[in-house]
Amino acid sequence: MKKVLALGSDHAGFKLKEFLKKYLTEKGFEIVDFGTGSEKSVDYPDIAHPLAKAINDNQYKTGILICGTGNGVSMVANKYPNVRAALCWRSELAELARLHNDANILSLPARFITFDEAIKVVDLFLLTSFEGNRHQIRIDKISINN
Ligand code: RB5
Repeated sequence: MKKVLALGSDHAGFKLKEFLKKYLTEKGFEIVDFGTGSEKSVDYPDIAHPLAKAINDNQYKTGILICGTGNGVSMVANKYPNVRAALCWRSELAELARLHNDANILSLPARFITFDEAIKVVDLFLLTSFEGNRHQIRIDKISINN
């Protein structure tokens, strides 16, 4: 069965989103595209909320969100209790976000990363499994509602 990925960006991330959609589709992933559909200006929360809600509700296990800095979409996504969105611009950060934080959304800063760098970040994010153990204990302490 194909692994499904939720993918979304604002206008600043549109070109990178389209590039990654093609790259990941060719790698065999099924992509659910949450928009946006062009470089016309949109507000990043309008894209990030539906995608993050779908991850939060376990509709999809993994998502990628892109905006100019990666910060706006991360801020939105991390409002959801079951979402752990990690802003990564180097593959080492993506690897650690999976190993230690069990991140389920990768946030990318489209204005600060090349397509080649983005591929390295995405590849390692998707390849790496959570280590568990002491990191699970720490993740369990993230929520302010415990
Ligand atoms: C859009 O200009 C920009 O503000 C947005 O893509 C993002 O960087 C916000 O955090």
